[in-house]
Amino acid sequence: MARILLGISGSVTAYKGAELAREFIRRGHQVRAIITSGGQRFVTPLQLQALTGFPVPKDQWASEQPDGIDHIYLARWADTFVVAPASANTLAKFAGGIADDLLTTTALAFEGPLFMAPSMNSKMLLHPATADNIEILSSRGVTVLDCEEGELACGETGPGRMMEPVRIADLVETRLAGQLDYSGIRALVSAGPTAEPIDPVRVVTNRSSGRMGFALAAALAERGATVRLVTGPTTLEAHPRVAETVRVMTTAEMAEALGERFEESDLLIMAAAVADWRPEDVSEEKLPREDGSIDLHLTPTRDIVADLAARKGDRIIVGFALETGDPVTGGRAKLERKGLDAIAVNDPTEEGAGPETETNRITLLHADGRTEELPLQSKETIAHRLLDAVHSHLRRNRDQG
Ligand SMILES: Cc1cc2nc3c(=O)[nH]c(=O)nc-3n(C[C@H](O)[C@H](O)[C@H](O)COP(=O)(O)O)c2cc1C
Repeated sequence: MARILLGISGSVTAYKGAELAREFIRRGHQVRAIITSGGQRFVTPLQLQALTGFPVPKDQWASEQPDGIDHIYLARWADTFVVAPASANTLAKFAGGIADDLLTTTALAFEGPLFMAPSMNSKMLLHPATADNIEILSSRGVTVLDCEEGELACGETGPGRMMEPVRIADLVETRLAGQLDYSGIRALVSAGPTAEPIDPVRVVTNRSSGRMGFALAAALAERGATVRLVTGPTTLEAHPRVAETVRVMTTAEMAEALGERFEESDLLIMAAAVADWRPEDVSEEKLPREDGSIDLHLTPTRDIVADLAARKGDRIIVGFALETGDPVTGGRAKLERKGLDAIAVNDPTEEGAGPETETNRITLLHADGRTEELPLQSKETIAHRLLDAVHSHLRRNRDQG
């Protein structure tokens, strides 16, 4: 099931846009429609609202969102954006980056795959201005769908007929199948550090920023998984499509939150930098500085991933290990000792890698002996490459299941 944003512009074939909405819904997708003022001459927002089950704003000033910002909300909501029919005018506005109504403004805010299905008179389609606009859009990665030849609404014959809704739906679904490769997967992700109290205000923690775990949760959500994120202290905000974010402080709290959600998960990615020790005695009162030096006795925390791996079943578990010295040897030992499917190891002493940085470099060790090097890149990119690699384990499970 995908979330499809459907733009309908001012063409005499706007009714085919409504047919396309029905086709997507028939195939189990969610559709939200945006209709230009030109499109509303042919199809009404009310018709589309009745078809899709979602409100259809009349214009960008008649917002459906409490903050009044429909275009950002809709752009974040959608997996894909399909404009069908796309008028010559709308193609020109998209090519020129014009943002003067809800459809065009949302298009500028949208980062996912965009399809446009032109529909117009042959002379309008073949006009050099339209041809140039189509070329500009294609060069930017927009999929401009071919027009079909035949009799047009204006009585002329030639190219310009909008591609049939069933064919458009087929093409969009083919693309989405590649993009939403984690669809149906229930993913549990841990992120951030944990913090172990010394007294009511002081903690023992580490330098993890949470960025790697949050990037993984975002990438999983973008690729169709249902994601639950358990995070230690961090100021990061989760991707809007992460289903649940649980904020915890200590290792014990993280263990509990993950343990409660583990049964109903297909995939666990432990990207949290869990504290290995905690102060054995926690003072209920704030320790006064005037008392001079103090002795902290640290005791090992629970090994969350080992505990969960003990009741793994056919779930996939991917761990993270920060290792200095010989990360690969240390990582492989951990992978085997804890019975994981894969472990991502990185060396915090390396420039640009590790817990505090925006970037990372990872060596991914698989239980079947494979080793993959993911070169230094942003944590967002690393997250997607990691999911590409982890997908082989899910496929194996599916094939065996
Ligand atoms: C009856 C009628 C039919 C039209 N059909 C088309 C069409 O099929 N394709 C097109 O590009 N423009 C068509 N137009 C012109 C557009 O509606 C017009 O350029 C409008 O400004 C498009 O605005 P929009 O792109 O914001 O919807 C038609 C206009 C009228 C009056």
